[in-house]
Amino acid sequence: MIHSVFLSLLCVQAVLGRTLRFGFVPPQLGGGSQLDDAGTGFGEPLNVIISGFSSPAVLTNNGIVNFARAIGFSEECLDIHLGAPQSANLGDGNGWVNQTIELRQDYGDAALGTCLESLIGGNHFRVYRQNGSLANSGALFLAVSKEENVFEGHNIVSDGYNIGRNNLVSAAIGRTSYDGVSYSTHAINITGLLAPGTAGVNHGIATDGVVTILTVTIV
Ligand SMILES: *[C@@H]1O[C@H](CO)[C@@H](O)[C@H](O)[C@H]1NC(C)=O
Ligand SMILES: *[C@@H]1O[C@H](CO)[C@@H](O)[C@H](O)[C@H]1NC(C)=O
Ligand SMILES: *[C@@H]1O[C@H](CO)[C@@H](O)[C@H](O)[C@H]1NC(C)=O
Repeated sequence: MIHSVFLSLLCVQAVLGRTLRFGFVPPQLGGGSQLDDAGTGFGEPLNVIISGFSSPAVLTNNGIVNFARAIGFSEECLDIHLGAPQSANLGDGNGWVNQTIELRQDYGDAALGTCLESLIGGNHFRVYRQNGSLANSGALFLAVSKEENVFEGHNIVSDGYNIGRNNLVSAAIGRTSYDGVSYSTHAINITGLLAPGTAGVNHGIATDGVVTILTVTIV
């Protein structure tokens, strides 16, 4: 298994001429983008990547939800989607695909926690999986942002992409646990994937160009 994964990674590497050092393939190499698309030609930065070198169980839909809960998020409040789904092209051959899931910060009330987030604003993120045949890393690309409350029209706060990323990463690094699963999470920052500034970015909010790569290991 490890061997075949390694071989397929080598294949991707050969095709793309790039070292897969961090457990994902830069989307631009396959004609994709480090910005998602809100359906307007503008998008949110994919500013956090859960590395494909993370424990495989973390990279499943249930796994990312459990990890998100361990760091203070939960599934969207009562399935109410206040924003439309967005799509991303991770350069893996799947083209533009809708987000897999969207998680919002949980303020602690089991039933109403994320409803509260929807009302007062907070951190949220969308998840995209890089699993097409051209770059089957299994990595999860997250568009993380901090929003204003619903009365402000659910917009991103000033500097909300950088703040959202930093808040999520701060909550994630080190040891966390939820529902009997314990995680050890390591972060590194990468520049060069995302252009600093506002070009193509939804709401015209600048990003600092940093993408944080998290490797999440179940311990
Ligand atoms: C993506 O989401 C949009 C908006 O909800 C929907 O119209 C479209 O069918 C979805 N595409 C896929 C492939 O699910
Ligand atoms: C790739 O990920 C998408 C989104 O999570 C999922 O719907 C699809 O089944 C996955 N494809 C494979 C081949 O696992
Ligand atoms: C990544 O960059 C952000 C923004 O500059 C910084 O706050 C954070 O400490 C950095 N994290 C790591 C692991 O270097």
